[in-house]
Order: sequence, then C-alpha cells, then structure tokens
Amino acid sequence: MSLKCELKSVRKAFGAFVAVDDVSLRIEDGEFVVILGPSGCGKTTTMRLIAGLENPTDGSIAIDNRIVSDPGRGVFVRPERRDIGMVFQSYAIWPHMTVFENVAYPLRVRRVRGADLSRRVQQALEVVGLEKELKRSATALSGGQMQRVALARALVANPTLLLFDEPLSNLDLKLREHLRIELKELQRRTGLTSIYVTHDQAEAVELADRIVVMDAGRVVQVGRPAELYARPNAKFVAEFISSANIFEAIVVSQQMPQGDTELKTEGGRAFSAHSDEILHEGDRVEVMIHPEDCILDESDGSRDWLHVELLQTRYQGTSTRYTVRWGNAPFDVIVQGTTSELTEGAEKRLRVRPGSARVIPQEGRRP
Ligand SMILES: Nc1ncnc2c1ncn2[C@@H]1O[C@H](COP(=O)(O)OP(=O)(O)OP(=O)(O)O)[C@@H](O)[C@H]1O
Ligand SMILES: [Mg+2]
Repeated sequence: MSLKCELKSVRKAFGAFVAVDDVSLRIEDGEFVVILGPSGCGKTTTMRLIAGLENPTDGSIAIDNRIVSDPGRGVFVRPERRDIGMVFQSYAIWPHMTVFENVAYPLRVRRVRGADLSRRVQQALEVVGLEKELKRSATALSGGQMQRVALARALVANPTLLLFDEPLSNLDLKLREHLRIELKELQRRTGLTSIYVTHDQAEAVELADRIVVMDAGRVVQVGRPAELYARPNAKFVAEFISSANIFEAIVVSQQMPQGDTELKTEGGRAFSAHSDEILHEGDRVEVMIHPEDCILDESDGSRDWLHVELLQTRYQGTSTRYTVRWGNAPFDVIVQGTTSELTEGAEKRLRVRPGSARVIPQEGRRP
C-alpha cells in the first residue's frame, strides 16, 4: 500500500494557545480514517491544516508524497492545488443555485465547460443518487439531500483525498444512520482515501478502518476500532470508545510473562485482570471491564460467582443495562435481548468472563 497523506510532528498555535500539538499520522491509500475526540480537541484544526486552510506553526504535511506544508522550508501549497474534496457540517450549499450549479462550481473554477462539465456533474450526482434532481433549486431539498449535494460537489473534481468534518451531525438520527451506511458504501466503491472527523463514537466505530483518538491537541491512540475497544492505552480512550466500568484497584500479585494479575479494591472486590506492564504488590492501577463481558444470574450460593445486589435496571432498546453493587460500589452489566424483569434489591450472582478485565496502562508508563 502506498502512503496517501502524512503528518510529521505537526503543531498549530494560535498565539499562546496550542490547538494541535506534535501530531504525526500516516494514512494509507484507500483507508477510511476517523479522527475522534471531544469538542475543542483540535479535530477541525487538523483537517484545516491538511486542506491548506491553515498553515502549521511547525512540522510538515505531505499528500501523495508531495510536501504541501512545511513552514521550516517555506513550503505552502494553496488549498485549490491540493486535490482535496471537502464536506462540512454546515452544508455550504448555495441556496440561490440549482443542484446542478452547486455541483458544477468546483469544475467551473477549474475552467471545465460544456459537454465535459455536464457529463461530470451528471456522474457525480449519480454516485449520490440525485441524478434526477439536477434542475431543482437547492432550497427545495431536505437536509439529507443537501448533504448528498455537498458530497457530489466534493467528488466532482476527482479528488485524491476526501475530508469530512462532522458532515452528518445536523441530521436526525435515522437519516444520520442511513447516510453513514451510504457513505461507507460509497467509499468502498470508489476506494477514495477519506479522513472523517466526529465526536460520536458509534459513528467512528462503524465507519473507520482506523480511529485516531485526540485529546487536547494530541493523538492519544491510533488503531482499528476493535483494538481500541479491547486494548485502550489510556483511561481517556477507554471512556471515549465505550461505556466500560473503570475503577481503581490495588495489585495483590502478578504472574509474568502471562500478565495475569490478582487485584482487590478498597470496597472489597477481588478478581484477576490482564496487564501488559509489570506491576508490584501495592501498586494502584485503573481497571476496565466492559459491561457486555459479564454474566448476571440468579444467586445459588456457589462460591465461583460474585455475589451482588441489583440496584437499577435500564432498558436500552435491544439490550438491558443493570447496575449492581459489587464490593460496595456500583458496577454495570449489559445483557443483550429482552430479559425477564429483575427486581431491584434482589441478590444476584455476577461472573466476569475470563480474560476480559484489563489493567489500563498508566499515564507516563504507556508503552
Ligand atoms: N482561528 C483560531 N484562533 C484561535 N483559536 C482557535 C482558532 N481555531 C481554533 N481555535 C481553538 O483551537 C481549539 C481546537 O479547535 P477545533 O475547532 O480544532 O476543535 P474541534 O476538535 O474541531 O472541536 P468541535 O468538536 O467543537 O468542532 C479550540 O480551543 C479553539 O477555540
Ligand atoms: Mg470541529
């Protein structure tokens, strides 16, 4: 695979404030990369740097192995010369123009005219399923249609790279889920390298080949969605990517090289977890257990199970989330499907699937 876009130690400061801090990324040709992080963490700024709408303070950016930004060497390629298609949260569709004219705009700027122009606009509209709407005024379109027009406009000039900045966040949930599937399908079909920004983890997990998790201007972890879910390298990633139980525990003993670690909590939980790092008796660590990696059943007094008290039941569509008291602290368990109603206050037995509890690497001790 060849490299489509590379950021090397990119930093962007606005006065004394550093919005993007030492970001390095390598994006392969054909990849769908999602940048995920909370509001203000620098996602849009990173996109604007790639697009050439901002100039980095330090570092360099290359697209198709050509340096497009490198302030140290005085290199800056203007946005219109970077071959990039962009779709933003606000549709940025011109209301006074027809669908055709909106999509034709990037080609007109590039001095494409006549039959060639018509053919290419038609093709881009076919890709997004709007070929029959080309004469309509943009104001007459629904939100989902407007976002498709924006997508067709991003595709029409045959970009080498597509950038999406929260393109679906103005749409209602149903439409968002529908367009998300279409978008992924379109990307598969065209093979276009895409960078997609969102703060919605469900969107990130569904769309991404790889997710880049950002916090406060920095990249915290990069990996496939399943990797980030199973092996977060920081508490921030675990919290952002899932709704895992995360709590502090004290190391009792450890077996290396397997990494099997016996732990306890102050409230009286005793359990084993996996750790990638060497730990010592008495070390305080943070542990993650996904609520879907647990089993909850009727109490029968056997010693293999943990005895817990049911505190709360919440139905969540296709699953049920139970909060139980385990070792004097709340702990969540998710059970898929419809289950029989459980009475709050009831005694239950809890089992954590072997191998599913993990010690989260500590800040500064991260590999
Ligand atoms: N032109 C600017 N001048 C000064 N500060 C800026 C500028 N652009 C962005 N910032 C600051 O940089 C930080 C990162 O902004 P950015 O828009 O990249 O965040 P984001 O991750 O896209 O957030 P959101 O999810 O809310 O869109 C913010 O604190 C923002 O206020
Ligand atoms: Mg933003």
